Amino acid sequence: TVLILDFGSQYSHLITRRCREHNVYAELMPCTTQIKDVNFKPKGVILSGSPYSVYDKDSPHVDPAVFDLGVPILGICYGLQEIAWNLKGEVTKCDHREYGFAEVTINKLGDGSSVDALFEGLGDEMQVWMSHGDQLSAPPPDFHVIGHTNTAPYAALAHNTKPIYGIQFHPEVTHSLRGKEVIGRFVLNICKCRKNWTMEEFIGKEIARIREICGPRGRVIGAVSGGVDSTVAAKLMHEAIGDRFHAIMVDNGVLRLNEAKQVNEMLNKDLGVNLTVVDASSLFLSRLEGIEDPEQKRKIIGNTFINVFEEEAAKIEAAADEEERQGAAAKGRVEWLLQGTLYPDVIESISFKGPSATIKTHHNVGGLLKDMKLKLIEPLRELFKDEVRALGRLLSIPAPLVQRHPFPGPGLAIRILGPITRDQVKILQQADSIYIEEIRKAGLYDEIAQAFAVLLPVKAVGVMGDQRTYEQVIALRAVQSEDFMTADWYVFPAEVLRRISSRITNEVAGINRVTYDISSKPPATVEWL
Ligand code: XMP
Repeated sequence: TVLILDFGSQYSHLITRRCREHNVYAELMPCTTQIKDVNFKPKGVILSGSPYSVYDKDSPHVDPAVFDLGVPILGICYGLQEIAWNLKGEVTKCDHREYGFAEVTINKLGDGSSVDALFEGLGDEMQVWMSHGDQLSAPPPDFHVIGHTNTAPYAALAHNTKPIYGIQFHPEVTHSLRGKEVIGRFVLNICKCRKNWTMEEFIGKEIARIREICGPRGRVIGAVSGGVDSTVAAKLMHEAIGDRFHAIMVDNGVLRLNEAKQVNEMLNKDLGVNLTVVDASSLFLSRLEGIEDPEQKRKIIGNTFINVFEEEAAKIEAAADEEERQGAAAKGRVEWLLQGTLYPDVIESISFKGPSATIKTHHNVGGLLKDMKLKLIEPLRELFKDEVRALGRLLSIPAPLVQRHPFPGPGLAIRILGPITRDQVKILQQADSIYIEEIRKAGLYDEIAQAFAVLLPVKAVGVMGDQRTYEQVIALRAVQSEDFMTADWYVFPAEVLRRISSRITNEVAGINRVTYDISSKPPATVEWL
């Protein structure tokens, strides 16, 4: 395991991902972690970037015991400056913040020593991504300069004899073209980590762990949405404890067209998961009727979901108790609640909070556990999304589902920009379905991270035959993104857009105009609400 100490950089989670892409398990912890409290023996330590300056009064610093661990250390950006700060180098503010591409010239010793190991075989020049306001003005004693740029004379350092390295650039972002290889050199060649983090190994271990946690009796309930995470979590539970796992799907009336039916078929019929679909669409839609405010929409959906789920769970619990009383069941009582929490959520809760503010709150199924006397089971909490997808493929979940775009908990409610009515939901469902169908037909679905239609609350003039029309507008959104923190709009071939527009205006009553959203994130967000 590689220990990554997070100083609050927006890229810290990417360092973890890159290590795992080399099949090396890496775990992120806040930079304030005391080394004596780390409950595993790391084979290497990576210090992340940070929005702070090392010499500021309140800036975070690493436990100096990290330098006594005797394992390799790699400092990235602030991490490099932190190494310099601890080992008597000098850090100063740049005249202006450096942000963007830079070319690093690599200085090799060529004597086969550990100094060259970080950039071994990576050529003499490297295109990298910089994002820093401070840089080294003098390296610490006993360090060799292994890379420089036009503006940074000490862009990369290596200790003369110990496996301590520091780099000013960010190898974890894809803009650093050979960055992943730099991380590979560190974790594989320098730390000598074994490549034993694979989903094949994970399945076996996780099923055994679930069986051990749940014991020979005891049931688990969990919500499924038709999304990748909950489907993979449900299938994993099913593999581990069979029908002692009960999945519940709540139809909230703002799902995509025919969603509930399709999820039922796939999860229950194809994958054999013990599933109950609750059609609560009338209850949700009556509570949402006429609501325009996005936060209120989210709140209503979140709270109603909890009401419906708890009611359904109570029924399953009562039936289980009844079976117990009759001495018939070997399945036991409902003791656990499954949640499809992923590693980024875990990171979000443990990472060191820099001054970067939260931009938009996501109100999902947070409150479920408050009233329920259930223990939480989270089989995916160590995994990134791409790992969940790989796991899904190994669990024989159909490819179209594994590759599915994310769909927000509040569903179409946050894509109807005006007040919600049943008619508005129907219009959006139809437009969205045509849009996605055409994207699939054009073979573009997997190139896009997320695509959806948005129903605008404005009317525009149109013409049909000899008649003027006065109808609503559909906005199409499609983005490419690695992690949805940033996103860029997708460049469609014109004829695909033409076909989509023509089908929507022809087939969806109430729509006479289609627009395409060409905003990136930032400054826009992916969703419109
Ligand atoms: P934004 O709009 O924040 O979206 O750029 C980033 C990702 O988050 C999803 N999203 C949500 N997911 N509940 C969810 O479950 C929400 O309230 C919510 N709002 C945004 C969005 O679909 C995108 O994938």
